[in-house]
Amino acid sequence: MTFKTLLTVFAVGIIFVGCNHDELSTVDKDLNNLINDRERYILPSETDYASIPQSPSNPLTKEKIALGKLLFFEPAFANEAKRFDQKFTFTCSSCHVPESGFRPGRMQGIADGGFGFGRQGESRIKYPYYANDSIDAQGARPLVTLNVAYVENTMWNGSFGSDGHNIGTESMWGVFDPGTARNHERLGALEGQNIEGLKVHRMQYTKEIIEAAGYKELFDKAFPDMPEAERYSRKGASFAISAYLRQNLTNQAPFQLWLKGDNNAMTEQQKKGAVLFFGKAGCNGCHYEKNLGSMKFEALGVDDLYEHGGLKTGPADRRNLGRGGFTGRAEDMFKFRTPQLYNLGDSGPYFHGGSKETLEDVVKYFNTGIKQNQRVPDSQLSTFIRPLGLTDEEVKDLTEFLKSGLKDPNLKRYVPERVLSGMCFPNNDPASKIDMGCN
Ligand code: HEC
Ligand code: HEC
Repeated sequence: MTFKTLLTVFAVGIIFVGCNHDELSTVDKDLNNLINDRERYILPSETDYASIPQSPSNPLTKEKIALGKLLFFEPAFANEAKRFDQKFTFTCSSCHVPESGFRPGRMQGIADGGFGFGRQGESRIKYPYYANDSIDAQGARPLVTLNVAYVENTMWNGSFGSDGHNIGTESMWGVFDPGTARNHERLGALEGQNIEGLKVHRMQYTKEIIEAAGYKELFDKAFPDMPEAERYSRKGASFAISAYLRQNLTNQAPFQLWLKGDNNAMTEQQKKGAVLFFGKAGCNGCHYEKNLGSMKFEALGVDDLYEHGGLKTGPADRRNLGRGGFTGRAEDMFKFRTPQLYNLGDSGPYFHGGSKETLEDVVKYFNTGIKQNQRVPDSQLSTFIRPLGLTDEEVKDLTEFLKSGLKDPNLKRYVPERVLSGMCFPNNDPASKIDMGCN
């Protein structure tokens, strides 16, 4: 390099730094300092398949994703309803409703044995002809199905998947939850879980049903090399749905745009909230992966679902034990996986038992730092449950970052216009059809 070029480089450097100084406010600088490695949090584009975490058993293809995007919303396979008149009335999306951030829109999800929808799932109730214990409802708040590609072991207790935290738990696979015996097949956490999920949620796939609903060609295109017996079964369906879910990424949220260099994508208040999240409030001590969740299991001492009106659950539900309910280990008792944080603003109540109504209530819970659930012994309780010392204004700022800074406004791209059967979705029961204006 000549002296002249060196000088030019130096001069340009000064101008560049100078400009930055003029434009960046204090909060910008604070946030830049806290997040110096932006790459670490950037979610890939949903079309950049190579960059999305996936299982070697089920490489992502556009044919699988296109099929999964329909199956997730398709009532035509809801063939194992407990009552004849409830057949073909529910889907995965009965409990993972897009308008509610892929949660039910009410405290607990109800698929088979549920009735009605409202505007975003909030009006769904138990169908009067079902007994409480014959409906399809689970003893925990449904998890969000967005950004699950970044969940190595799925469920609140991390029980699915053969790798990651489940290495060393092999002797417990299939013990308390028979479905987790799937882990021995080493298919990938989602692929294995969703085969079981389709069974639990009473959906059936046979060649005849697939043909009658008009899906045979799509299954053939998606899985040309899979033996027919597997292709036209819950396995083929699970692989397609899992591929689709891996691609459901919230990469258009303001925080994501900010990470990618658009300094104006977040408001001043959202930035202040982010500074708290990654700084003083210490939220990223656990919420540190690309989905802002992680595989850290912690006991936050929150209530269980039966205490907040959950059906088909109670004090003896193993789900209340969190990770310990799966591993049986004393040290895992009452510890739950750290969930992802995108698009939560539409999906209250929060925590595994749905014990906090709003995001502000969640932030206040952390700020107060007093356990809610007396059954969780202090010896298990996370050391994070102690007063944080945030001011009222800081509570508001942090809430705003969660609510709006982490909201991808365009989730519609993950929802099909219609499903091949032409049925109404998320639900296809008579009351839901009226609610949604389907005919
Ligand atoms: C009756 C309501 C209901 C239905 C129907 C339902 N889910 Fe869920 N889903 C839940 C609940 C509750 C959880 C959390 C359970 C737990 O962790 O104990 C969950 C968790 C999940 C997870 C794990 C996410 C994570 O971060 O670990 C995935 C993936 C998922 N569901 C996919 C599906 C698919 C695919 C279908 C359709 C086959 C489906 N769900 C149908 C209620 C439901
Ligand atoms: C010590 C680890 C840890 C820290 C630090 C932490 N969280 Fe969490 N967070 C968790 C776990 C674990 C859960 C699930 C607990 C449960 O439901 O039992 C959770 C749940 C949540 C939820 C509810 C998500 C849902 O789907 O219902 C929100 C929102 C949240 N955290 C935000 C925050 C914020 C904001 C901070 C900083 C003030 C924070 N967290 C700090 C571990 C942590």
